[in-house]
Amino acid sequence: MSEQITITVQTKKAGEEMHLLHTVGRTVLETLRESGIELPSLCSGMGTCGRCMVRFIGYAPLPSQTERGRIEPDRLREGYRLSCMAKPVKNCVIQLLFKSEEKIKVLTESTVGSMEGMGREEDGDYYGGLKQGSSVIAVDIGTTTIAMRLLETVSGRVCDTYTCLNPQRSYGTDVVERIRAGSDGKAQQLQELVREAMRKGMNQFFQSAVNNKLCKSKRMAIACNTTMGHLLMGYSTDTLGKSPFTPVNIALTMFDFEGVPAALLPGISAFVGGDIVAGLYACDLHKAQKTWIFLDLGTNAEMAIGNGGRILCTAAAAGPAFEGKGEGNTTGPERIEAISHLLKEGIIDETGLLQEPYFESGIEVNDICVTQKDIRDIQMAKAAVRAGIHFLEEKFAVSMPEYRPIEKVYLAGGFGFYMDKEAAVRVGLIPPELEDKLEAAGNTSLAGAEKAARKMCMDIKEMRELDDIIGNCEVFNLAAQEDFDKVYIEYMNFVRFYK
Ligand code: FES
Repeated sequence: MSEQITITVQTKKAGEEMHLLHTVGRTVLETLRESGIELPSLCSGMGTCGRCMVRFIGYAPLPSQTERGRIEPDRLREGYRLSCMAKPVKNCVIQLLFKSEEKIKVLTESTVGSMEGMGREEDGDYYGGLKQGSSVIAVDIGTTTIAMRLLETVSGRVCDTYTCLNPQRSYGTDVVERIRAGSDGKAQQLQELVREAMRKGMNQFFQSAVNNKLCKSKRMAIACNTTMGHLLMGYSTDTLGKSPFTPVNIALTMFDFEGVPAALLPGISAFVGGDIVAGLYACDLHKAQKTWIFLDLGTNAEMAIGNGGRILCTAAAAGPAFEGKGEGNTTGPERIEAISHLLKEGIIDETGLLQEPYFESGIEVNDICVTQKDIRDIQMAKAAVRAGIHFLEEKFAVSMPEYRPIEKVYLAGGFGFYMDKEAAVRVGLIPPELEDKLEAAGNTSLAGAEKAARKMCMDIKEMRELDDIIGNCEVFNLAAQEDFDKVYIEYMNFVRFYK
């Protein structure tokens, strides 16, 4: 039998320790994962991202060649190791170092999607035979976070909220890494992780339902991107990771989750998923008689334009710029604000170059350190978004003669919610003429799931609005557009083009 040792894990909370049984020959990362500790890992344990770093206190295993190449000698002597490489052979103590996740706020608020007090009372019953006290559950499974709400069906009152980081993060922070992990034989673990997180939420809601005198939840609606949906349902992710990026199933899917009839909301493509459909649904954009833009900016930037029911969508990889994981342990909105300030002060030039003496070390602004890499990440992300808006407007104007100027821009998700509008315009993420049209709409994916869950209770046919959205939606491949490279490169600079 393999020899077993104990790893004592010290977390960031002072005085908190865990003792994990570890089999000699395995990596520390494997043991941490199996114990439910979410360590970020961008490279799936290839030893290239450095995100899984831990520090050994006292005894530390000999560093591998890869670790010698990645970690400075001083830090190696101080016990720093990559947990995906480190294989201790005797009892040891490690400190977890990852900090940026502590800054991730799970957004549940939304400014849209309210449908308070639906239905009508007839002898105490409402549409669909609902009585007061009936409840539904809405779930938003994001790549980074999970948010769930328990609602009283008829009034829409939020009775309880459950949030957590998506535990699949230990297999990679973006969808590309999750797809790879799913295809590398980890699909079942990934499915179980997300389902376990949902079960925890349901257990919490079970007690809240008792406290709020609610009946067992009648329905659950789940909104998520296509990859999260595939992992939840146990579909193969193989085809999501390679051209032509064909999903296994993105139709509205009814299934049973822990005894509750659940609906996984439909998506549009591999890159424009049910979270975006839920967002459009929450904002009622399939009915809007005005021209609008909808932006959901994360590691994948989803963008849509529409008017009078017609919807045009696209998506672009935006990298880590909008997320809470840049160098210097900062959040996306913080970095946008800091970079905007540095541009104003002339410390960053138009090409994005940080002036000396800050080029090597970075510069501190409002307690956060901005590095040259942070600036490059923002440049690439904003170029992708601006190119997306450029082609959305161009294509929509060509195909819709009654196209009018944009009247409203909905910013979905946490980045848009916490982002400073003026700073976003100054760095060139948002065209200046759209600044006063911006609305931070919050977690529209959760809002859409709430609306869908409540409508499901009335009549399943009410879900047909989701089909209307999908039926009227056209998706185009941004990177395949003629002139894409030219437009993208021009938007990389901190100057305004085309507008
Ligand atoms: S270095 Fe990337 S997971 Fe360890």
